[in-house]
Amino acid sequence: MDLKGKCVLLGVTGGIAAYKMANVASALRKLGADVEVIMTKNATQFITPITFETLTGHKCMVDTFDRDFKFEVTHISLAKKADVILVAPATANVIANMAHGIADDMLTTTVLAAKCPKLVSPAMNTGMLENPITQDNIATLERYGFTVIPSESGVLACKDVGSGRLPKEDVLIEYILHTIARPKDLAGVRVTVTAGPTQEALDPVRYLTNHSTGKMGYALARAAAMRGADVTLIHGETALPPVKFTTDVPVTTAQDLYEAVTGRFDTTDVLIMAAAVADYRPVTVASDKIKKKDGDLSIPVERTPDILGTIGPQKTHQFLCGFSMETKDLVENSSAKLAKKNLDMVVANNLKVAGAGFGVDTNVVTFITPDGTRELPLMSKADVADAILDEILKPFLLLFPCKHDADGTGAGVTADGGADVCFPAFLEVAVFLQARFHGLHAAGLRLAGGNEHQPILDVIPVGQTVGDVLAHADGQAAAVFFAHFQLAVDYFQG
Ligand code: C5P
Repeated sequence: MDLKGKCVLLGVTGGIAAYKMANVASALRKLGADVEVIMTKNATQFITPITFETLTGHKCMVDTFDRDFKFEVTHISLAKKADVILVAPATANVIANMAHGIADDMLTTTVLAAKCPKLVSPAMNTGMLENPITQDNIATLERYGFTVIPSESGVLACKDVGSGRLPKEDVLIEYILHTIARPKDLAGVRVTVTAGPTQEALDPVRYLTNHSTGKMGYALARAAAMRGADVTLIHGETALPPVKFTTDVPVTTAQDLYEAVTGRFDTTDVLIMAAAVADYRPVTVASDKIKKKDGDLSIPVERTPDILGTIGPQKTHQFLCGFSMETKDLVENSSAKLAKKNLDMVVANNLKVAGAGFGVDTNVVTFITPDGTRELPLMSKADVADAILDEILKPFLLLFPCKHDADGTGAGVTADGGADVCFPAFLEVAVFLQARFHGLHAAGLRLAGGNEHQPILDVIPVGQTVGDVLAHADGQAAAVFFAHFQLAVDYFQG
């Protein structure tokens, strides 16, 4: 995941946490972002603009009336250039100004002019933060569409203990990534991912488990959330930090996992079972520690419920993706699972292949679908996660008698047989909605520009979600959309 081609504008205000923003600017640069920084005058008391200029390669703006000839009107140019603005740390004073449209310096003027997504990370003394005036101002910002990043609790610079700390740098970066890193092509799709091992107790001290670390499932949950899906991550015991922007459901046993999955199956569109579920559990769980005795010990075990095996045959509209970890006959065994468990896809990996399997950050997988088998090269688990999600999106695209853009411009779909004739973006949207109405596992589509429908696409910036498109459709654009919607209705009804 990177930020290549994206411009991040950081607004740094006068709080002690301002120094942390140097790390944020540096990390964003490493992710490939073009980073611009505007500081308030007070912020320059805590950290110097030279720090940011060195880290970003751009002049750090402070003074609205700076004689800088790089831009015609700097605050407007920066407001237009930014793909996202993060104001962090945001003081009570700057929050109050932004909430009330007071634009009396370079930062507040730029924020007021900008139309891009805006993130605000309040950081201040607990008393100031909890003051109803500040709380009202924060609520006002949220009402105007700002995303407010909750401050953390702990020891503050003034030695008070309470809320008001700026979150760690990686949290701020995760918010930026979530906002702009990926097109939201899974917007509106409810994805449930299972991850990690289960534990089957033997007595209060011991349990049966496996080597799963949860890395593959967590990577899937993160990728799906970044692509706009509504993600639930059901996971066994892992050492991994929770995945932001997901609903976290911790479980312990295979039975817990079974209940967690089946309990939300009706409200799931895509289920990805990456968990390493125990196949057997001890028949009884001793209430006291089993004492050692002379001689061997046998433990009777019984089958756990096969979750996919049970719900596969009951699926209605859901897309089911299972994992298959084998040490031999990978394709044969995995294809058998696809059929037996009524799955739409199996992601198979051979534990004996270097770079695949437990604990490592890479994987070597083979996709098995009813259409055939596709072997992928050694990839990071993050890239494998995206490849799985791309594959899940495919069946929807195939519903329509057209193919992917042949020239790779990312124009979405093209007319069958005519590589350069792109369907209007709204037709894609209409097809999406129709597919959803018919209970198919359609996901959001990435809208692309650069064709003869540019006037329509001008209304819809590239990378917008279906929801965004509908929210912004007006006038001519809405009329075009409804015309295409009718076409899609005809397609599905015919
Ligand atoms: O049949 P096998 O256990 O190899 O299938 C693996 C797939 O089935 C994985 O997706 C795993 O999460 C799932 N599974 C399950 N319930 C079990 C065991 C495995 O859903 N009891």
